[in-house]
Amino acid sequence: MTEKSKAIYPGSFDPVTRGHLDVIERARGLFDTLHIAVLSNPEKKSLFTPEERIELLRSETAGLAGAGVLEFSSFEGLTARLAAEVEAGWIVRGLRSAADAAYELPMAHSNRRCGDAEIETVFLPAGAGTSFISSSLVREIAAGGGRLEAFVTPGVEAALRGKSSS
Ligand code: PNS
Repeated sequence: MTEKSKAIYPGSFDPVTRGHLDVIERARGLFDTLHIAVLSNPEKKSLFTPEERIELLRSETAGLAGAGVLEFSSFEGLTARLAAEVEAGWIVRGLRSAADAAYELPMAHSNRRCGDAEIETVFLPAGAGTSFISSSLVREIAAGGGRLEAFVTPGVEAALRGKSSS
């Protein structure tokens, strides 16, 4: 991308996984600014609060490679609306599987049409070592006391252990 470019990477990030970090590192190489947006959905029960999820995202992205500026926020409502608010021209999403594509494609088409400005989605294929990872699996493994190092960073693992023991 030659002109100054900004993308948002929306998600639940409950919690951030090695898969998310892979997408963030790669997207950061493509855009001047990557705005990471944590969905705050009061109707959906989450393990971590939006503030905790942002805190983990901040700490775990601190050592990532890439020159792009990282911004963080939480949001309610529509991704396309937030994209317009922060003046992002693109949405970034990772794709792990055909099941992801079935969910993501209608969302990408909708995001082009449901906001005031047309916003394109850029898909990054999940890395071979992370395509099996999801936050819901991570929460399940943490609750069952399983090994988490393949799924999350040590900082996130510590936060998960903190939740299990509280
Ligand atoms: O990490 P997730 O849970 O797969 O992320 C899903 C997310 C947050 C990207 C998606 O649910 C979303 O964009 N929600 C906000 C509401 C919205 O804009 N929906 C699309 C309608 S066009």
